[in-house]
Amino acid sequence: MARGWAVLFFLAAEVGAFADDSLVSIGDAKYLAGPGAGGKIAYLRYPTLGCPSIVQAGSTGTVWIKLNGATASTFLLDITPNSKTGPAYALSVLGSTYDASTGITKVAYEVGSNVPEDTYDLHLSVPALAVSDLQYNCFKVVKEESADFRFIVIADTHFNTPTGFWLPGNHNPGGYDAYSIIEQMKKEIRALRPTFVLLIGDLMFGLNYDTEYETVWGIWKDAGFPIFMIPGNHDGYASIKDRWLLGLHSPKRDGLDYWRNYFGPCAYSFEFGGVHFQGVNTMDGTPERRDGFLIVIENYGGDLGPEQMDWISADLAGVNGPVVPFLHHNPMGEYRANKTFSMSGWVLSRILEFLTTGNLNEFVQEWNTQATGEFLLAKYAGRPLVFVGHKHIDDLKIHNGTTYKYVTTAGAGAFPGKKDYWGYAYVTVQNSQVVEHLYTSDPKFQSVPTGNLHVRSVDGEGAEQSAKITSGLSKSYGITVEFVMPSAPAYVAANGFVVQFAPIDAERTRVWVRTASPVAPSIHEPQSLTVTLKTAEAAVGGSVETPVAPPSGGGGCGAIGLEALLILGLLYFFSSSFRKRGSVRRL
Ligand SMILES: [Fe+2]
Repeated sequence: MARGWAVLFFLAAEVGAFADDSLVSIGDAKYLAGPGAGGKIAYLRYPTLGCPSIVQAGSTGTVWIKLNGATASTFLLDITPNSKTGPAYALSVLGSTYDASTGITKVAYEVGSNVPEDTYDLHLSVPALAVSDLQYNCFKVVKEESADFRFIVIADTHFNTPTGFWLPGNHNPGGYDAYSIIEQMKKEIRALRPTFVLLIGDLMFGLNYDTEYETVWGIWKDAGFPIFMIPGNHDGYASIKDRWLLGLHSPKRDGLDYWRNYFGPCAYSFEFGGVHFQGVNTMDGTPERRDGFLIVIENYGGDLGPEQMDWISADLAGVNGPVVPFLHHNPMGEYRANKTFSMSGWVLSRILEFLTTGNLNEFVQEWNTQATGEFLLAKYAGRPLVFVGHKHIDDLKIHNGTTYKYVTTAGAGAFPGKKDYWGYAYVTVQNSQVVEHLYTSDPKFQSVPTGNLHVRSVDGEGAEQSAKITSGLSKSYGITVEFVMPSAPAYVAANGFVVQFAPIDAERTRVWVRTASPVAPSIHEPQSLTVTLKTAEAAVGGSVETPVAPPSGGGGCGAIGLEALLILGLLYFFSSSFRKRGSVRRL
């Protein structure tokens, strides 16, 4: 991938002038130093479910492996489509280097030019050590790295967060709850087929990390699109010691260690299409700063520790082109200084604030240490667009010419009365510049509302198959439909373009067809389009029978306000409810 010479030199020095995948830098030393205790990350340290790799077919990349002190010279790598609809492809291993200071072995590989564009699981085998490992959904192969691409941003998916249960489901026809809306969103994003997705924190609630991390991992491991994740406050709460209150147990824990063990590094950067993406962990700082009793916490606003600040500076120093940061909290504040947590102090201060001011504004916080917020604002001055979440509503705030774009919640809610709804931001990049990121011109309605886009197979497994695309959206979006067809010399599509096909075996072939969703006058008047695919004896130019219009591109979740008032009273309910619902989202 085209990136700065400094980065090329950095990688070349370590694995020998091969690595050309999307990773630029990992800014989480604790992740690289850690042994991997429980969770889902063992030997494979990059790519991971939450820090995937994008590689061009026929090009090269690097896998990072930690063998816990052992070394080896022979590594076997293969990738299998995450959808399980295609065969495995072996990666050609080019060489490896071992870094004694970190214990990381970096293995360079080449992806075959015949590997179709898709999202894959990565399997590692080290025969000499009888070691094998698997990371789901962590490997994206593209046919070509282009400066024109699209990506999607989702925020505050918030598995099992109470506000998700009272959201009325506005901007969709109804029928969804906080669980099914996430499954629906996954289907829509598969159909939209962005190059990648950014998931900018608050994936869960924070009551019981043992079950929540396990369940949320299960939700995303079969996504079918690569997801660059960074943590939010609800993912990184800590408890510096065991505490008991009214029979409730808040065990000693650190949510960021769970993150490292399930998803990967908390901060990192990558590059695609000439754009540098910097993922920052704004729930940073010591466990003492993040200390609390379950989800009752003093400091849930953003902050940065000194190590991450050093990494942010170093990571940006080598970049000359466009930078798109993605983080959970907006460094513009409101600022509220960190306080030392005590349960009685937390309760008393909330009561006192409410009695004296009639509101809980002091409790609402976006950023804690003002100096670290201003550090980040200075680093991002002049960058056109920064993605943030946390507030659960769409919004735009501008500071020093930089737009801080809030993305609405994907699965929770905000204050009643706010313009919250379930959705995701669809972003179009042309010539390495973001040219479109708004669904409508209303600053409170910028995201694509989930629940209005459906792709259904209409008939057959034979030589002619159809898929029906139904949309209640007011814009047209590019849609990709995958068919499994009988093997044939060629394929012809009606109402779409055949963009690639790849054999599964001697009898079956995967065929991808690109089309454009129809435009609907309202979500209550969805429009449909049927794409039909046939086998053919020979390829025809463009394989298009009917031309289609080109796609047109495109309250704080930290237990803010009402949620805060409910927390204590609901702790019993949700702790028991959580145990009941923990497996609901399993697929
Ligand atoms: Fe948040």
